[in-house]
Amino acid sequence: MRIAIIGTGYVGLVSGACFSDFGHNVVCVDKDVAKIEALERGVIPIFEPGLAQLVARNIAAGRLAFTTKLAAAVAGAEAIFIAVGTPSRRGDGHADLSYVYGAAREIAAELKGPAVIVTKSTVPVGTGDEVERILREAVPAARAWVVSNPEFLREGAAIEDFKHPDRIVIGAEDSEAAEIMREVYRPLYLNKAPLLITSRRTAELIKYAANAFLATKITFINEIADLCEAVGGEVQDVARGIGLDGRIGSKFLHPGPGYGGSCFPKDTVALLKTAEDNHAPLRIVEAVVKVNDARKRAMGRKVIRALGKEPRGKIVALLGLAFKPNTDDMREAPSIDIVRVLEDAGVQVRGYDPESMEQARPIMPDVELCSGPYEAAAGADAVVLVTEWDQLRALDLERIAASMRRKVLVDLRNIYPPEEVEEAGLAWHGIGRPARSIVGSDG
Ligand SMILES: NC(=O)c1ccc[n+]([C@@H]2O[C@H](COP(=O)([O-])OP(=O)(O)OC[C@H]3O[C@@H](n4cnc5c(N)ncnc54)[C@H](O)[C@@H]3O)[C@@H](O)[C@H]2O)c1
Repeated sequence: MRIAIIGTGYVGLVSGACFSDFGHNVVCVDKDVAKIEALERGVIPIFEPGLAQLVARNIAAGRLAFTTKLAAAVAGAEAIFIAVGTPSRRGDGHADLSYVYGAAREIAAELKGPAVIVTKSTVPVGTGDEVERILREAVPAARAWVVSNPEFLREGAAIEDFKHPDRIVIGAEDSEAAEIMREVYRPLYLNKAPLLITSRRTAELIKYAANAFLATKITFINEIADLCEAVGGEVQDVARGIGLDGRIGSKFLHPGPGYGGSCFPKDTVALLKTAEDNHAPLRIVEAVVKVNDARKRAMGRKVIRALGKEPRGKIVALLGLAFKPNTDDMREAPSIDIVRVLEDAGVQVRGYDPESMEQARPIMPDVELCSGPYEAAAGADAVVLVTEWDQLRALDLERIAASMRRKVLVDLRNIYPPEEVEEAGLAWHGIGRPARSIVGSDG
């Protein structure tokens, strides 16, 4: 099949590369000239494991191409995916649909043959109706269908997720459109990936409901972690104890500094806006958003408490800055709020991340970015584990302790057992169980 992808960001690039790997002919379009020029030279603009090889292999096979010219990509395409951004609209938190509608208008202007127009971007319920209206207004006679096909991939595991999805959701109003979509996903369908065909509005809603539910699960265990700290429980055991219940499931029960990233924060807020507009309040999601926002700053205060009496002039090393491991994405990363709280309290902040330092630099200009975890820790008063990169899971804690000025480890991901941390001579502060000792603290 011939496929065009409009928007070559995280989702567009991964989808395009995977579709071409299935054997389809794919052209990825982006307005960003520098991005397309880089991709044509084989330079991948994002960090995603396995993506560079996948892109190179399919370019070499002649199945994957990049362009800034939408007209050329759309001509002859049987499926045209819209994978542009839907950020939070400044000021009110609604999803900003200007890129989606802009892309729809550009497609409409170039549409010749029969095609499905597929919104892969995460869009509020009813967006497909508006895309259809734009299309019908511009080309009333075109044989074109508008379909919703939300994407569930996770950054850091995007290729695996795309190729082995838990489910494929297709929201289509016509059987002809559903048939074309089945053809697009045939290789996965043959692999027995469940294909869920729903109405277009339902598909749009499924994506938001899924993200809101996952955000709720994270936030739930984070609050239970706070309670464990207060009453002397151990959150990891609680998570295991409830997660083994098949009705609950063990995934997304890892307490931490709060969810961030390019999806959960904006999607939960956008869902609330849809709920508000339709007089169907989602009070649980409202609470989740509030609790998570407060939590990121609370983590900064937790570090300050671990520093002892006077934070001003102390040095704190943050290890891991991206919102999660295996990505260089800094969007809404908890590290941003933690840095703000620390800097407001007069703390000098250092940072290290295996992949996201270039992205972090403009966001946290006063943070001294270091070349490695040991460089960041040397002379510091506290080391804070913010993101659980594999590279940060087996640090030489004794070496770290020996190089520090005051010996405090704040483990916001519970990577290290407190006993191991203490044996290395560091005071342990973590999530979901009370801090155990005051070694190294001057409080
Ligand atoms: N990032 C994720 O993990 C993820 C997962 C699932 C769903 N989503 C959703 O997918 C959508 C895309 O997210 P992303 O992270 O890939 O965004 P992104 O910001 O990384 O990429 C969007 C790209 O679209 C391009 N673009 C915008 N308008 C264009 C136009 N008219 N023509 C051509 N290119 C255009 C931009 O230049 C940019 O490169 C969003 O709705 C997001 O919520 C993202």
